[in-house]
Amino acid sequence: MSDLSASTCDYIALATEGVKGLHPYQPGKPIEELERELGLSNIVKLASNENPLGVSLLAASAIQKELEKATLYPDGTGFVLKQALVKYLGVEMSTITLGNGSNDVLDLITRAYASPDSEVIYSQYAFAVYALSTQSVNAKAVVTPAKDWGHDLDAMFSAITDKTSLIFIANPNNPTGTYLSASQVKQFLTRVPEHIVVVLDEAYCEYIDESDYPDGVSLLQEFPNLIVTRTFSKAWGLASLRVGYAISNPEIANILNRVRQPFNVNSFALAAAAAVLSDLQYLSKGRQLNDEGLVQVADGLTSLGLSYIPSVGNFICFEVKEGGGEVYQALLEQGVIVRPLANYGMPFHLRVSIGLKSENQRFLDALAKVL
Ligand SMILES: Cc1ncc(COP(=O)(O)O)c(C=O)c1O
Repeated sequence: MSDLSASTCDYIALATEGVKGLHPYQPGKPIEELERELGLSNIVKLASNENPLGVSLLAASAIQKELEKATLYPDGTGFVLKQALVKYLGVEMSTITLGNGSNDVLDLITRAYASPDSEVIYSQYAFAVYALSTQSVNAKAVVTPAKDWGHDLDAMFSAITDKTSLIFIANPNNPTGTYLSASQVKQFLTRVPEHIVVVLDEAYCEYIDESDYPDGVSLLQEFPNLIVTRTFSKAWGLASLRVGYAISNPEIANILNRVRQPFNVNSFALAAAAAVLSDLQYLSKGRQLNDEGLVQVADGLTSLGLSYIPSVGNFICFEVKEGGGEVYQALLEQGVIVRPLANYGMPFHLRVSIGLKSENQRFLDALAKVL
């Protein structure tokens, strides 16, 4: 094949300023990649906050049924899944926007409500996709300093200017696992002018037991500028299928549905997500496993003399003195994949997802060995 890069035109230079400055999202290392690189088997992946339970049987059977119709385009309106969400959340269908994972929804929101003339506020250490989406539309990112590794809502409020069009809040935040209470969120929303769209990203909400954790959906009535985003990738165990959603006032949903690709969610994802919403046993089993795993991992880290950021998600961020990169690499060699956080500006932290009890133990044993 001829050399396709041999051109007189510089296609990198031709890209928009924002896109040129992008660094692609760094996902957790896939198991197969580590197998290829180090020739290891029996690898444990605790790098992407996935559900260790395996797929719900209801979801699996829905996927199987969909196979017969694989030659057909999916239902672009996502009617069946929206109907299931209406029942599950008690919202109107007109408030829902479906996405190819909630990342897709975050991107739709940014494309609809941020532009090169506007500013987007998010916190230091906040989920990486806010920065990527903001930069890809050439909007100005306004990053406010974190407080105790979490969002400082006062700082975020003070950062508002007449150019602010969008604010991202991760509750809880990934990678730090910190959360904001209902009163903090409500107070913030009360102060933010109505013309600024606020995204409350609740990707991990189903795991959370804390009584002061807010239910974003219940705040929508009061705050028409609020968008709540959620996902089927975590507690519902469907990360590979890519399905997430936003709930918002119908006018915002109308706008998001205009920028959405016509078939952004595939039939398998639509069917599996609709089915899993009725598998409450799966959800509660996953929650219990996660609660126990959080204690197991936190206790294990403490026994190793390591400090961690208390987390309400299905992951824990911990500090290593040697530098995260080295410990990450040494863990890989033990067949354990975690997430380095240098790209979040946290070079001395690593994030580990909560797995099965045996996987958590494998991680703790490997960590003890490499430290
Ligand atoms: C805070 C947060 N929001 C959104 C997402 C996106 O998840 P998905 O696109 O799989 O729905 C993630 C995934 O890790 C996340 O941690």
